[in-house]
Amino acid sequence: MAEINLDKIYSSFLLALEESDDEDSLSRIHKEFLGKDSVISKQRKNISKLSDLDKKKFGNKIKDITQKISLEIQNKKINLQKVAYKNREDKENSDISIDWYENTGSKEHIISSVMDEVVQIFSSIGYTVAHGPEAETSWHNFDALNTPVWHPARYESDTLYIDKKLQNLLRTQTSTVQVRHMKDNEPPIYIVSPGRVYRSDQLDSTHSPVFHQIEGLAVDDAISFTDLKGTLEFFVKEFFGNNVKTKFIPHFFPFTEPSAEVLVSWKDSNWLEILGCGMVDPNVFENVGFKKGTQGFAFGVGVERLAMLRHNIDHIKNFYDNDLRFLRQF
Ligand code: DAH
Repeated sequence: MAEINLDKIYSSFLLALEESDDEDSLSRIHKEFLGKDSVISKQRKNISKLSDLDKKKFGNKIKDITQKISLEIQNKKINLQKVAYKNREDKENSDISIDWYENTGSKEHIISSVMDEVVQIFSSIGYTVAHGPEAETSWHNFDALNTPVWHPARYESDTLYIDKKLQNLLRTQTSTVQVRHMKDNEPPIYIVSPGRVYRSDQLDSTHSPVFHQIEGLAVDDAISFTDLKGTLEFFVKEFFGNNVKTKFIPHFFPFTEPSAEVLVSWKDSNWLEILGCGMVDPNVFENVGFKKGTQGFAFGVGVERLAMLRHNIDHIKNFYDNDLRFLRQF
């Protein structure tokens, strides 16, 4: 009889639990079924009236039911909390990416798009792209490129070294990729190599300690200075338009002989230097293990410089400030 009572109590507990939908009603249920004057404690009081055998049996049953009830209340409480959090989250969950900034999509940075454009121009005449590391050895950056040990470009005031023995550095020019590419490949070679370079420069309107260059290299049978001129004139016209005038003036670079600077006059502006170039010095070919008599030309162009000229940008830092008012113009 006593046991039937307990079963009924348990069934009515389950009913009450099912109907409960907040923590208040749960604590009421807890009080009603497990509290000091609860139905179960009343049953517990009956134990003393039972025979020894029944005492044990009934006692165990009460213990079981008490445990079950308290566990189920606990679980229900956790579930209710989860539902409450979820509701709150749904209500409060505003998408912070919306309306925070005006949603205008993304856009390529002007430096990347100028680099892409130059690469496109050269790939249209058969050049492929080669890459090299930004952390380089002094050998690739200077020695292999025929740069004498006394050359000022090697000074710590110009170059950012990354070890005390000055054997490793942040590349100061993308010309390093010429060396790497020639070490791994045989002529004919037609490559351009866009990338970031580093110099120990103070920021001013035309200099930045980090900037971008595109190196070019062509090595093939009987390549001559005429090929160099024709190729760079084609590039300049493609990039600035047919009205641009081009002038080659003699210059010096350790890795080319003869060397030249290319100047452009555009929209009636003064002559402005845009790149360095020349016929690859035989010592460079020797350093990479190419046979005597190999011929080729190379050039190096500053990406920021190209962009500044074309868009009339007066300070190099505009490229790195990431001011959207500037970037959106291109
Ligand atoms: N590396 C040179 C610089 O950073 C640019 C350059 C000039 C590259 C002449 C060349 C070249 O390949 O032939 O100033």
